[in-house]
Amino acid sequence: MGDVKYGSLNINQNRPVRENKSMVKYVISIGLGLIAAYAIISILIIEVRGRSMLKPHGEWKELIKEHPYQRKETDSRSPCPMLNTLANHGFIARSGRDIKSDDLFNALMLLGAPPTVTVGILKLVYTKLKESDPDRSFLSQFGEMDTLDLDRLTVAGVLEHDVSLTRNDLTVAPHSTSNPIPDYIVRMHNLAQLFNNGSEFEGIFTRKNEHDARRLRWLESYKYNKHMHLNLFAQFASSTECSLLLDIIGRDGTITLPHLKSFLMNETFPDDWLPRDTTYSLTELVVKPMVCWKGLRKSEVTLDLLDKLR
Ligand code: HEM
Ligand SMILES: *[C@@H]1O[C@H](CO)[C@@H](O)[C@H](O)[C@H]1NC(C)=O
Ligand SMILES: *[C@@H]1O[C@H](CO)[C@@H](O)[C@H](O)[C@H]1NC(C)=O
Repeated sequence: MGDVKYGSLNINQNRPVRENKSMVKYVISIGLGLIAAYAIISILIIEVRGRSMLKPHGEWKELIKEHPYQRKETDSRSPCPMLNTLANHGFIARSGRDIKSDDLFNALMLLGAPPTVTVGILKLVYTKLKESDPDRSFLSQFGEMDTLDLDRLTVAGVLEHDVSLTRNDLTVAPHSTSNPIPDYIVRMHNLAQLFNNGSEFEGIFTRKNEHDARRLRWLESYKYNKHMHLNLFAQFASSTECSLLLDIIGRDGTITLPHLKSFLMNETFPDDWLPRDTTYSLTELVVKPMVCWKGLRKSEVTLDLLDKLR
């Protein structure tokens, strides 16, 4: 850009223009540098703070004693087994209503969720789920809302998507994804027994089982639900949820069958469950969903399997 010519009349102004431009470049690079420094420092602060909140095993055992399972029919619940479990044990408001973003962050850090990514997801959710009130000003629809009710997370297209492991598609009865469908969890359980009995993985639900279970749900929706929709973003989100289930709720790509039932069916912390030793890392966030993605594409199960899983 520095060599742009301004025609013969402007030749005398060439030098001042150049100097102005390098001045502008200088200011821009200082500005970008400051923004980058600010971003890096913010991320470091979030990472250090988030990681320091992960509960060591001894402290978790004490903490969970003070947070028994209690659930009322009128409570507001989400399509997320983890958030519902946190609410069922009072780590966030048991009612599931008026929950601040910070409350969710603090609760998720106890379990070793990745701090910066959690902040990002919460920002996305609290911004995208803010509705525009026609009685208020045009600008009032922008920015983040103060609090969230968990059942707002059932709104399609923000995080909620079709082909979940434990919920029906929203266009299929019961037209709500707040509660798990027990049959789907029984199916996951039976699938693990069918393939793993007699092997070293007996009694355990593995990543391969997840790929097969998810593929079955996908085949099923694709065949029987004319209104199903699973875009690329949702496929990617599903692969991430695969790792959340097996590496944060479960451990190292596995979860025991009693834990699977406890978290997915009852949405309760098992008595003998412990949080991760270390916070879920950014490397894991890149690698593990890819493993899930590939695994699902490689899975060879067909709808015939459904009969064997009832
Ligand atoms: C420790 C962190 C988390 C874990 C372990 C976790 C776990 C999971 C799992 C396993 C699923 C899949 C359920 C299924 O397929 O039936 C899921 C779905 C979901 N999660 Fe979470 N989650 C976490 C954080 C969050 C956060 C921070 C939010 C938003 C505030 C969220 C919102 C959702 C939603 C809306 C779904 C439904 C997606 C669908 O339609 O299947 N989750 N989560
Ligand atoms: C697998 O083993 C369990 C006991 O560990 C048993 O209850 C179940 O019926 C077996 N399932 C299959 C499909 O073999
Ligand atoms: C789930 O809840 C039912 C009913 O309260 C209970 O009988 C069962 O033992 C629970 N199962 C798990 C795995 O927590």
